Amino acid sequence: MSRIAYVNGRYVPHDEAAVHIEDRGYQFADGVYEVTAVINGRLVDNDGHMVRLERNGVHFGMVYMQITRGVAPRNHPFPLHVRPALVVTAKRAPLLLDPDTVPSGRVITTPDIRWGRCDIKTISLLPNVLAKQKALDAGAYEAWMVDDDGFVTEGTSTNAWILDRDGRLITRPLSDNILGGITRQTMLRLAAENDIEVIERPFTVEEAKAAREAFITSTTNFLKPITQIDDSVIGNGEPGETSRHMLGLYVAYGRKAAAA
Ligand code: PDD
Repeated sequence: MSRIAYVNGRYVPHDEAAVHIEDRGYQFADGVYEVTAVINGRLVDNDGHMVRLERNGVHFGMVYMQITRGVAPRNHPFPLHVRPALVVTAKRAPLLLDPDTVPSGRVITTPDIRWGRCDIKTISLLPNVLAKQKALDAGAYEAWMVDDDGFVTEGTSTNAWILDRDGRLITRPLSDNILGGITRQTMLRLAAENDIEVIERPFTVEEAKAAREAFITSTTNFLKPITQIDDSVIGNGEPGETSRHMLGLYVAYGRKAAAA
């Protein structure tokens, strides 16, 4: 089935979907976006069902939604009387749903060179792109960005977690230096409901390297165990028990939400 994109009020073939060259997203990265997972044709963790998903035949995959300030002659200040430009696309993707066979990944660490409002899900992602490419060039899956004090902020498109020696999950608290991941938020709820202790505090790279387990969370990964950070192997180099347990809880939650 050919893909359909939603562009400013029209459903168009994906190959032909286009935005104006003076769109402020294109010129200034003046826009925001959302990515939502799809399980059994239903949006997970998303209250607003804004897309006619069946047009793309997506049963397992992603929905991407982007809003920019709109099209206007190039000039820095907010343009007056401009309509926001909205684009929505959907794509099929295999979601990794089996905690027993979930593949793990490696991360590298790299300085966090982003701006002061990382809580905004802006389309201005150049530092994230550079860091992700650095990870790929090093044969790793993700880069964990590190602040000036040596604390991990988050991954380039994921939130970062570790399990300490006492079996407590640790993840950085929300602030303007990380994105408040929806998957992170749901994991926190699932952990609380299942008596798994979580401490929301920053952790250092050294702490992470000495951790019992590590993982990342996001809409596109759900939960991916991390078995190496730079040159340090985490635990026994295999996905840890708590990581797999948390993924199992999330998958069960996603399936239940999809069936509701
Ligand atoms: N990225 N941190 C950053 C910087 C992100 O870009 C994302 C999401 C997350 C995890 O957020 P969530 O759980 O809501 O997906 C954390 C999306 C998936 C992306 O850019 O493709």
